[in-house]
Amino acid sequence: MSGSRRRPLVAGNWKMNTTVPEGIELARAIVALDRPDEVGVAVLPPFTHLWPICAELRGTGVELGAQNCFWEDAGAYTGEVSPAALAGWCDLVLIGHSERRHLMGETDEQVARKLRRALTHPLQIILAVGETLEQRDAGTTLTVIHRQLDAALDGLDPASLERVVIAYEPVWAIGTGRTATREQAQEVCAAIRTHVAGMVSAQAAERLLILYGGSCTPDNAAGLLAEPDIDGGLIGGASLKPAAFGAIIAAAARAVNATVDG
Ligand code: PGA
Repeated sequence: MSGSRRRPLVAGNWKMNTTVPEGIELARAIVALDRPDEVGVAVLPPFTHLWPICAELRGTGVELGAQNCFWEDAGAYTGEVSPAALAGWCDLVLIGHSERRHLMGETDEQVARKLRRALTHPLQIILAVGETLEQRDAGTTLTVIHRQLDAALDGLDPASLERVVIAYEPVWAIGTGRTATREQAQEVCAAIRTHVAGMVSAQAAERLLILYGGSCTPDNAAGLLAEPDIDGGLIGGASLKPAAFGAIIAAAARAVNATVDG
């Protein structure tokens, strides 16, 4: 499914990298990049960095996101961060990243609870889904993706879906230098759009932003972003290098302009 091009989003997932001063420097460097209007740009620093970086980003158009949140708004949950505490000044929250699913044992059910809670606040949610190498080799990629989508989005109304972005991140491509081919990424992103059309509505699915993530670099971004169902990137390692992140933003702008022109 292609169609009128959606405004791409390039989001930098910093993971557990940088000290607070280093993060502020990195945020300043990203603000200083050439950022064409036709591409949305977001950074997702560690929790400790969010407040000072919020001040750096004010009025710049660069959006701010958290990498995770809890499924309750308040209470005796030592070490967790509530979506209520993020709402109003953070724009986004990432939910279901594979490092949370696989390293911290987050289940589909917990991901769903987090998404539901975050949606009660004025936050945009980036929901990450993706298969492991074993699942891909076993031919169950789409079964896994569908299960993750069903668990997280079941019963969601079209208005709520407007605030959800899906990030397709094959686990075997994250931080490995082994990116999915553009054909592999497009195949799954198209399947995600079709599945969401069936779950929610065709119109909502057509507007849905679907990002690719997993060893996305300036070298492979242009090819990936030219695919009709890939609407941007969730960038890990390359988002820590302003020049590389800027080159991916530029590639996203070229991809969207090529679609509009062509
Ligand atoms: P990577 O990470 O770009 O370093 O592979 C992507 C992600 O985990 O979001």
